[in-house]
Amino acid sequence: MKKLAVAIDGPAGAGKSTVAQLAAQRLGYTYIDTGAMYRAVAWKALQQGKPVTDELIEEVVKDINVELEYKEGKTFVYVDERDVTGEIRTPEVTGIVSQVAALGQVREKLVDLQRQMGEKGAVIMDGRDIATNVLPKADVKIFLTASIEERAARRYKEMKSKGYDVDIDQLKKEIAARDKADSEREISPLVQADDAELLDTSDMSIDEVVEEILKRCR
Ligand code: DC
Repeated sequence: MKKLAVAIDGPAGAGKSTVAQLAAQRLGYTYIDTGAMYRAVAWKALQQGKPVTDELIEEVVKDINVELEYKEGKTFVYVDERDVTGEIRTPEVTGIVSQVAALGQVREKLVDLQRQMGEKGAVIMDGRDIATNVLPKADVKIFLTASIEERAARRYKEMKSKGYDVDIDQLKKEIAARDKADSEREISPLVQADDAELLDTSDMSIDEVVEEILKRCR
């Protein structure tokens, strides 16, 4: 069977990584979480202990080594060989990641890496600009979304399960702000590709979404 490249884009909290990982397992494909790579750069910028300016981020990205390892259904993220898988999900990183992702120098470096990872096929890659920019020739393109209420509720559950004390209204505001920043930036903004299929998962279970993705791959 042909080894497909599958692109899944969509706003924050739409469930992209959850369903992409499950679909990748079912297909025996590699899952590539591109958001984790932008988070890795944001994490390293915070580590400098200085105000996070665009200049600081551009300095950090120059010689950063970001690696993803996908094993046993889980993605591990390394910055300069240190495992930062958990540390890239903190509210501090989430708070500055849109600023990081808007910078041309950051996108250039990470998109190059993503294309190298995707070129052999048998991959599911998720992010914001996969179908429009990273893998424009992807065999399957899906734009995954859900209502802001549903996305905030999902993020709330996830953060609570990790022990964070979060407020759902605050989360809703943060998600809306991140979507706005990601959609309005100049370089490769979050947008549904003309040839991508829209999948609104507000009233769908995880299994139903995974089945829909697999159906499109068959
Ligand atoms: O999917 P996520 O929440 O982990 O992504 C973190 C941020 O990275 C998100 O706010 C936008 C940015 N991003 C991007 O600009 N392009 C991608 N392909 C993936 C993520």
